[in-house]
Amino acid sequence: MKWFTVIGLFLTLSSSVYSEVSFITDAEYASQLYHNPRGIGCYKCHGEKGEGKLIATYKDKGEQLSFSPPAINTLTYEAFVAAMMARQKGMPRYYLTPKEVKVLYNYLHPVEREDVK
Ligand code: HEC
Repeated sequence: MKWFTVIGLFLTLSSSVYSEVSFITDAEYASQLYHNPRGIGCYKCHGEKGEGKLIATYKDKGEQLSFSPPAINTLTYEAFVAAMMARQKGMPRYYLTPKEVKVLYNYLHPVEREDVK
């Protein structure tokens, strides 16, 4: 391969990678993070909009119980952050960065609240 072919290839690849990155909007990034964080997607347990979800009902010692992760779209920012930092029974631990937690919070609270910067 001639040197200019190599440079051309490099420029083509790097510009296509760059353009992909720059074409993703904040809203798309937030949606992707909610659906596919580092682990199982939040929506699978908390619902598409964080409205909460009934996953299963079961009986234990004659008592009717359910696994129903709560709504997470009506929390204060402080409560949301505190919950993400703590262990939640029945929920994996994600170790998200403060910025990722902020993105998820804003994604789940689009109307009622001003974006937390
Ligand atoms: C496997 C199911 C599951 C997944 C996946 C999951 N959660 Fe949860 N989450 C739960 C359950 C169950 C609780 C309630 C724990 C309790 O009541 O002790 C909870 C609690 C929470 C709370 C606290 C709610 C409150 O009222 O205090 C927040 C915030 C939360 N989850 C956010 C998230 C986010 C953001 C994601 C994705 C990064 C996520 N969860 C993924 C099951 C899940």
